[in-house]
Amino acid sequence: MKILGIVGSTRKGSYNKMIMNYIEEEYGNTYDIEIAEIGDLPLYSQDIELEHFDAVERVRNQVKEADGIIFVTPEHNSSVPAALKNMIDWMSRGKPVFLGKPALILGSSIGMLGSIKAQLHLRQILNTTGLALYLQPAEETVIGLVKSKVEDGKLVDEATKSYLNSKVENFDKWIKKVQDL
Ligand SMILES: Cc1cc2nc3c(=O)[nH]c(=O)nc-3n(C[C@H](O)[C@H](O)[C@H](O)COP(=O)(O)O)c2cc1C
Repeated sequence: MKILGIVGSTRKGSYNKMIMNYIEEEYGNTYDIEIAEIGDLPLYSQDIELEHFDAVERVRNQVKEADGIIFVTPEHNSSVPAALKNMIDWMSRGKPVFLGKPALILGSSIGMLGSIKAQLHLRQILNTTGLALYLQPAEETVIGLVKSKVEDGKLVDEATKSYLNSKVENFDKWIKKVQDL
């Protein structure tokens, strides 16, 4: 089963990327996991949407081939970071590659609230006609104070690891449910 990770942060030391890296390490033998690079996508404009960009095609193909998508988003000013919205806007045009894909939304922040506002916005965005993913219900994931849960660029907090494991295992069941629809 192919899982595509989409991390909302383009920051080199991103905590959200570390969370996705943890999932990749933990489940790399169970699933074929890739992490999309969204930082080099051009800024979406309808004026250029019919032009060819290798970066857009690369991500579009990754989405197309994925059986399940895991979003891991930080929160920027109470919403999703611009780079993530830009990626979604690109994917929403042309052939609808996100349509019907099972998806899980995760997120973390250095503050207490664990990017919950961004996650709820992301849920609303992804429910749009033309995107219409099958979002795993009731699985908002609050990982607050994330700085205290990583060391040397890796997630080390055992409670957070098992929390994430349960999210991924529930997502596995959700993907299979959606595939049976
Ligand atoms: C432009 C900007 C806006 C931010 N706004 C919020 C916010 O609204 N809520 C929040 O909890 N953290 C906010 N933060 C802090 C982020 O949670 C923090 O930078 C986090 O480390 C980003 O995730 P990353 O490590 O994956 O890049 C903001 C950070 C930036 C750079």
